[in-house]
Amino acid sequence: MDQALVTHLAQPGSQWWRSGVIYQIYPRSFADSNGDGLGDLKGITSRLDSLAALGIDAIWLSPFYCSPQKDAGYDVSNYVDVDPIFGTLSDFDDLLEKAHGLGIRVMIDLVPNHSSDQHAWFQRALAAKPGSPERAFYHFKDGLGENGELPPNNWVSMFGGPAWTRVTESDGKPGQWFVHLFDSSQPDFNWANPEVQLEFENILKFWLDRGVDGFRVDQPHAMAKAEGLPDHPYLKEAGAGFIEGRENPPMWFQEEVHEIFRKWRKILEGYPGERAMCGEAYVYPLSLMAKWVRSDEFHQTFNFRFLDAGWDSKKLFDAINESFEAFDGVGAPSTWVLNNHDVIRHASRFGGDYGRATASDGIGSGQPQPDPILGLQIAKGATLFMLGLPGASYLYQGEELGLPEHTTLEDKYRQDPTFARTNGARVGRDGCRIPLPWEPEGDSSGFSESGKSWLPQPASYKELARSIQEKNPESTLSFYKTALDLRKQLGLGEGSFSWIAGHQGPETLGYENSGVKVIYNFGAQPVDLSTFEILLSSQPLSGKQLATNQCAWIKP
Ligand code: NOJ
Repeated sequence: MDQALVTHLAQPGSQWWRSGVIYQIYPRSFADSNGDGLGDLKGITSRLDSLAALGIDAIWLSPFYCSPQKDAGYDVSNYVDVDPIFGTLSDFDDLLEKAHGLGIRVMIDLVPNHSSDQHAWFQRALAAKPGSPERAFYHFKDGLGENGELPPNNWVSMFGGPAWTRVTESDGKPGQWFVHLFDSSQPDFNWANPEVQLEFENILKFWLDRGVDGFRVDQPHAMAKAEGLPDHPYLKEAGAGFIEGRENPPMWFQEEVHEIFRKWRKILEGYPGERAMCGEAYVYPLSLMAKWVRSDEFHQTFNFRFLDAGWDSKKLFDAINESFEAFDGVGAPSTWVLNNHDVIRHASRFGGDYGRATASDGIGSGQPQPDPILGLQIAKGATLFMLGLPGASYLYQGEELGLPEHTTLEDKYRQDPTFARTNGARVGRDGCRIPLPWEPEGDSSGFSESGKSWLPQPASYKELARSIQEKNPESTLSFYKTALDLRKQLGLGEGSFSWIAGHQGPETLGYENSGVKVIYNFGAQPVDLSTFEILLSSQPLSGKQLATNQCAWIKP
């Protein structure tokens, strides 16, 4: 197929998750109601009006379940309760009610690949004997070597270091090993075990009964492991990951996983309303990812190909072509995303040379620092370019304020396990997880009345506080509001897509969606838009000329 001719037909009036804008809330950094310096559910509820005013359709809450917080809540010790640091189940019900009253749907984060080592199932497994049904909830294996002193295979953790930890058996002797693709406090479940499957079906029902509108599913592509847990065949080149086009390693996107999602989809469809699930699936190429969004599996999967394109015109052109080709083939929407709690904020990522390889590694004060003006300029253009695309879009809290990454966070504050597991070689993701500034006053800029904040904010956050931006029609916040409002009015999320001749890179990328043209200027020369009506631009245009790194929505 001629890539330049990829088109996408409008899907008017379709389900919300095909075109909705979903806003990710990172609970520990959104708003703190009790003054302990850590965000909580009541804090979120108290600030939901500002999200309604922003114009989003749904929120996705990162984990708020009981957890020792070794990986900021992605280490769950009880899937059906709220951690006291975030509140109570009744606080959750209040949040849900308030959100629904404002017309905002609520998706929650499900973490099924691993639990915390403090989960009762893992503690039970530790206390039980090798070969017991309790151990079969996880992947326990005898080690290699004369006395089992070597890990059972060559896998390494995504956070650095080995993916295996040896346990001490009840007789006090070193015993079996368990696998953890992330931190050693996050043992991976054995998804081949039907009991594990049943437990998670009950967890889904628990939250669906409470009224959630869906789930963002963490690391679904890691859940099934190849039988026998063989070695990673090209570990040296791929590390913990995989290389596109090569055989997939035994821990990533195994076929068996699809049957699980089919069951989950049926469960969701058994509930009224349009409940939906979005997979955080790193599966490439997208033609393979399309299998994950077949009509009886996930409703959405994040389009990380788009995020990974790093705002390079050729890569974006290819990513968009590949996306529509793959997802249209199975009747699924593309789910665009530029930010989340794992990657460098786009207002900083685009202000320096930070490729995908380092995007989730953060930026430390010893590294080249991003240019904040250039970064925000490109970020706003990129967002406008993304929000014009048909499909669903995800936003990450704080991007509507143009927040930069905290790139000079002192090491003593770092909490991401990546930092400790790599002895500081990778600073980790704390820089994109800094508490939000709500007002310019106070030590934590309105995040907490006490002025406390679990990670310190950089000085630049004060002047970016929401209350200031709300009053300023030229602010990044006002820009996001206008873009979201126009997107809705023009039906862009449900619209069509075709490239505009002459705007297929490298100087400019331009597409048409439902009569609206969206142009981004990557080149050095301005693009003359004088014959068009300008609906919205990422920066004020001088004389209807679209300058470098600007994007505009225009009409003839
Ligand atoms: C992906 C989550 O987004 C990330 O924050 C987490 O550390 C890993 N999965 C492990 O759960």
